[in-house]
Amino acid sequence: MDQHRPTGDFPQSGYQRLVLPSAVATNGTAAPDIESELFAQLKPGTVFMMGDNPALPRMPPKPRLLDFYKSRLTDLTYRHLLTSAKRAMDAGQEEKIVVACLLHDISNGCLIRTDHGYWGAQMIAPYVDEEIAWAVQHHQALRYFADESVGYRYPESYVKFFGKDYVPPDYIRAAAENAQRHRWYMSARLVTLYDIYFFDTAEAVQPDIFQDMIGRHFREPKEGLGFDGSSVAHMWRTAIWPNNAL
Ligand SMILES: [Fe+2]
Ligand SMILES: [Fe+2]
Repeated sequence: MDQHRPTGDFPQSGYQRLVLPSAVATNGTAAPDIESELFAQLKPGTVFMMGDNPALPRMPPKPRLLDFYKSRLTDLTYRHLLTSAKRAMDAGQEEKIVVACLLHDISNGCLIRTDHGYWGAQMIAPYVDEEIAWAVQHHQALRYFADESVGYRYPESYVKFFGKDYVPPDYIRAAAENAQRHRWYMSARLVTLYDIYFFDTAEAVQPDIFQDMIGRHFREPKEGLGFDGSSVAHMWRTAIWPNNAL
């Protein structure tokens, strides 16, 4: 797929395209609410963006999992997920754990941060074993709770991120307690063990080293992610076209 087509080949060419930010990304932030202002800017020759954004790498028509890593994940999450999976692999963990590590923060990487474990689990559920999706969902809650039996402590990074007095909400505590009693507990717990931020020190890990493993544990739809008519296809399309007005 040619990633360097002229912008005339993009939809709405010839128009000035306005990007309406999603409310979930701007509510409560310093970003001003520009919805009314952008509506006021509509005039002949100006439209709200729909479809491929020339400012983003163009996705292939039938995107596969690693296309999202290469073209949509934020830089930090891209490195975080690859490094986490590599560490699990180097430690000799079984493939489903490595794949869970590779996927665990896919939501905050390319879709939404809030409740990222739940969103991420939903995104991948049709394509992976139930245990992998379960581990992705529950790593979110288990991150807040130590398990000395496997050497997992409350993360230093969370003290930095959320403050030393942060207390997770009741639904997170309940989810962690349920997870601790579940037969797949250790799968989610292992994800938290390799869920370490390597902001400065991460070696570059190439995503293609996981290609064969993905082939064994992630059922890529033949129509491409976003276009298979699954109950979560819209989530992948949202990652492909994050700037669509509607
Ligand atoms: Fe996470
Ligand atoms: Fe993570």
